[in-house]
Amino acid sequence: MRCQVAIIGAGPSGLMLGQLLQKQGIDTVILERQTPEYVLGRIRAGVLEDQAVELLREAGIGPRMDEEGLVHSGIELSFAGRRERIDLSGPTGRSVLVYGQTEVTRDLMDARAASGAVSIYEADQVQLHDVTTDKPYVTYVKDGQGHRLDCDYIAGCDGFHGVSRQTIPTTILRNYERVYPFGWLGLLSDTPPVSDELIYAHHERGFSLCSLRSMTRSRYYLQVPLTEQVEDWSDQRFWDELKRRLPEEVAAELVTGESLEKSIAPLRSFVAEPMQYGNLFLVGDAAHIVPPTGAKGLNLAASDVYTLYKIMHQVYADKRTDLIEKYSQICLRRIWKAERFSWWMTTLLHKFDDNGFDNKIQMAELDYYTSTEYGRATIAENYVGLPYDPVE
Ligand code: APR
Ligand code: PHB
Repeated sequence: MRCQVAIIGAGPSGLMLGQLLQKQGIDTVILERQTPEYVLGRIRAGVLEDQAVELLREAGIGPRMDEEGLVHSGIELSFAGRRERIDLSGPTGRSVLVYGQTEVTRDLMDARAASGAVSIYEADQVQLHDVTTDKPYVTYVKDGQGHRLDCDYIAGCDGFHGVSRQTIPTTILRNYERVYPFGWLGLLSDTPPVSDELIYAHHERGFSLCSLRSMTRSRYYLQVPLTEQVEDWSDQRFWDELKRRLPEEVAAELVTGESLEKSIAPLRSFVAEPMQYGNLFLVGDAAHIVPPTGAKGLNLAASDVYTLYKIMHQVYADKRTDLIEKYSQICLRRIWKAERFSWWMTTLLHKFDDNGFDNKIQMAELDYYTSTEYGRATIAENYVGLPYDPVE
C-alpha cells in the first residue's frame, strides 16, 4: 500500500491532521493500535481554544460542535475564602468552548469514515523505517499478517507512549521533563454542573476543579497523592472530599450522583526536541505533555496539526520542502509558552508539602494576579491561547 502521508495514531492529533490533509487532496492512511471503541473510551479534557475550534471547523466537524459546545467567557479561581472571576473575553475579545475531547474524536472518526480515507485499527507492531530517506515506509501486523505502507512523510501522532518518538536516535533527541508529586482523581457524572463556569480551587486539603461536559454532565477532579488507588475512592468519599475543598456556598449547591467513570492520572510536563527528524514529524502528545491545569493538552496538539498541515500543503502545492526543517522551531516556540503556563497554573494552585513558605508565595501570587488588571489579563490571554505562529 502507498500514500503521501502515513499517520501513526488515531487520537485527536492523527484524526484532525488526516481530515485537513485529505481536504487538501493529500492522501493519508492512519494506523492505530487500538480499536475505535477503545479510543473513544478514554475520558480527556474538554476545553477548546477558539483557534482549535476554527481548525476543527476547517477539518469539517463544525456543525455538532457549534450546536452542542458551550461558549465560556470566564473562569473562577477560589482560594483563601475568596472567589475571583477571571474575565476571559474582556481583555482578549475571545472565549473558549467546552466540548469534550471524546466528542471531538467521535466527530473526526465519523468525518474520516465518510471521506472514504483508509484507517487501519488494531495495527500491531508498527515500525518506522528509512525516515531520513525520501522513501520512508511503515511496517505493521494486522490479523497476524505483515504489511508495508510506503509514503513520502510520516506523522507520529501516537501519543506519549508511541513508537514514533523512539525512532529518533537518542543522540539527537533531548527530553525535558518535570514530574509532579501528585495526580488528579477525576469523576464524570450525569449531574448538573455546580457552576456555569469552571472553578479552579486552591485549598489546604489540596486542589480541586469543577468542570462540565454539558448542562447535565459534570466532570470534577481532586488532587491526590500518587500512592492513591482509585478502588479506595467510593463515589461518596469523592463527593465528601470535594465538598470540603470548595467554598461553602458552592459545596451547598453541589448535586452528587453515581459516577460514570473514575480514574487517576499523574501530572507531568514533558517536551522532546527536535520534533522533526528527516521525513518524520512528531505531533501532539508524542512530543509533549502538559499537566491539565491549564487545559492545554488538546489545544497544543491542534497548533502542531495546524503547523504541519500548512507545511504539507505548501510542500505539495509549491514544492516548499525548505519548510520541513522549520516545523520543530515553529511548534516549539508556542509549546514552551503553553508549558510555562501549565506549569505555572499547577504550581500556583496545588498543595505542595513544604514548611509553609510555598503556600505563602502562592497566596501572594494569587492575590497579586487577581488584584491587578494586568495580572487578570495575563491569565486570560494564556487561557484562551496565545496566537498560532505563522508558517513562513
Ligand atoms: N502504533 C499505532 N498507534 C499507536 C501506537 C503504536 N505503536 N502507540 C500509540 N498509538 C495510538 C494510541 O492508541 C492513541 O489512540 O496513538 C494515539 C495517540 O492519541 P493520544 O494519546 O490521544 O494523543 P494525541 O492525538 O496527540 O492527543 C493529544 O489528547 O491524549 C490527549 O492529553 C492529550 O489532550 C491531548 C490530546
Ligand atoms: C475537563 O473538563 O476535563 C478539564 C477542564 C479544564 C482543565 C482540565 C480538565 O484545566
